[in-house]
Amino acid sequence: MGERFSELYFQLKDKPYAGVFMMLRQTLMVNDLDQIKTILVKDFSHFTDHSFEMNEKYEPLANHLFNLGGEKWKNLRIKMTPTFTTSKMKMMFDSINSCADVMKNYLVNDIKDGNIEDVKEILSKFSTDVIGCCAFGIECDSFKNPNSQFRKMGKRVFHMPFHKAVLQMSLFFFPSMVTKINFSILGSDMNNFFYNLVKDTIEYREKNNIVRNDFLQLLMELRNEESANNSVDDKSEAPPDDGTRLTMMQLAAQVFVFFIAGFETSSTTASFALYELALNPDVQKTLTDEIDDILAKHDGKITYDSLGEMTYLTKVIEETLRKYPPLPVLFRICTKDYILPDTNIKIEKDTPVMIPVYGIQRDPDIYPNPNKFDPERFTPENKAARHHFAYLPFGEGPRICIGSRFGMMQTKLGLATFLSKYEVSVCDKTLIPMEYDKRSFVLTSNGGLWLKLKRRSK
Ligand code: HEM
Repeated sequence: MGERFSELYFQLKDKPYAGVFMMLRQTLMVNDLDQIKTILVKDFSHFTDHSFEMNEKYEPLANHLFNLGGEKWKNLRIKMTPTFTTSKMKMMFDSINSCADVMKNYLVNDIKDGNIEDVKEILSKFSTDVIGCCAFGIECDSFKNPNSQFRKMGKRVFHMPFHKAVLQMSLFFFPSMVTKINFSILGSDMNNFFYNLVKDTIEYREKNNIVRNDFLQLLMELRNEESANNSVDDKSEAPPDDGTRLTMMQLAAQVFVFFIAGFETSSTTASFALYELALNPDVQKTLTDEIDDILAKHDGKITYDSLGEMTYLTKVIEETLRKYPPLPVLFRICTKDYILPDTNIKIEKDTPVMIPVYGIQRDPDIYPNPNKFDPERFTPENKAARHHFAYLPFGEGPRICIGSRFGMMQTKLGLATFLSKYEVSVCDKTLIPMEYDKRSFVLTSNGGLWLKLKRRSK
């Protein structure tokens, strides 16, 4: 999808808008950066929803922030925003760091100097542990238990069988089918697995008065604050429909969205960063020098503050997200008829809108020599010199990624930990040039991401 929309962008970028057909569905593609700003921010009230709609009855876990629209989304977003403040991120840092320690032990004890490894697999295990710990409140240790039920279910979410992937795409092209089909894409076993996991953990914590610094705790507090007057404490199939109250199932759905929105995005970003570092040894050297210097200043420990000082690392990740935005196309649905500014063209309600992020972020008119990996594009001066909407890895406007800070923190910590122990280089199995998995919704390499690992003396 990202590559296809990128091709269309390069064919049509002299036009602010273009109409394209996705199968039979008329779709508006927006190319001009000012117009993108208008749609995502100024006229957001016409484009409030993402395009995914699910049958809540058969897919109860789909009742989450990314999928919800209109007032329900707005009310829930207001409620969930305080969960992602800097102070909450700081609070969760130790939990993420303990997952990084598990990865460090694995790197030190289980990998031999000179090994060729699939770094995507290593960082996916780290990501699984982080999200398991911070969202579900469980210790997964995916390095020791690679076949745990949690990891298996996680893999299934991202590697759907072909017929389910086709069905999901069909729902996008023919949204009216959503309410008609009596079928769950995730499957009732997956819906039940995640629901029971969340419910059992909450009940255990409540019974034993356990309080932890994680998302689950924050969502439990949110739900308890309301319970006196209006929360419904059951697995209701008819939850309150205004997003102001959280049933247990709705709470489970929000935990689930942290998993699907946070897991693959962060692990592919970290693995693409390692891929580019292997291709660009000079950049890798500058980065490992920074990591070594800052760790030396902090007794060899990675802390919230020491991570904050790693500014070159931030630039490396920002440049990685430019070249490889995990969501290569942003989606909106026109929720209210709209006249395109300065035209008489009417965009009808229910028309999908696509923003070709991958194409924009590889446009040589915006990013000269766009295939070059150059973190210096992200100095404050260079950032200020560009149009703000030329960089959209986290989206923009009221629907911007709610977990961007958490995603950045997790990716920085994963990379700093990895690079404090190993340097990476390309090998015969490395995909050069990069090829993407055509069936994945998130931009990800086709197959693993294989690199040679050399142990560092530090
Ligand atoms: C590098 C990491 C990440 C990237 C690149 C990323 C990217 C995105 C993008 C592009 C969107 C859509 C924004 C739009 O439509 O304008 C989004 C939405 C979202 N993301 Fe992230 N994300 C990341 C990490 C996370 C994490 C760690 C979490 C949760 C813990 C998270 C939770 C969400 C949620 C809940 C939404 C839906 C927000 C809404 O519709 O109100 N993301 N993300």
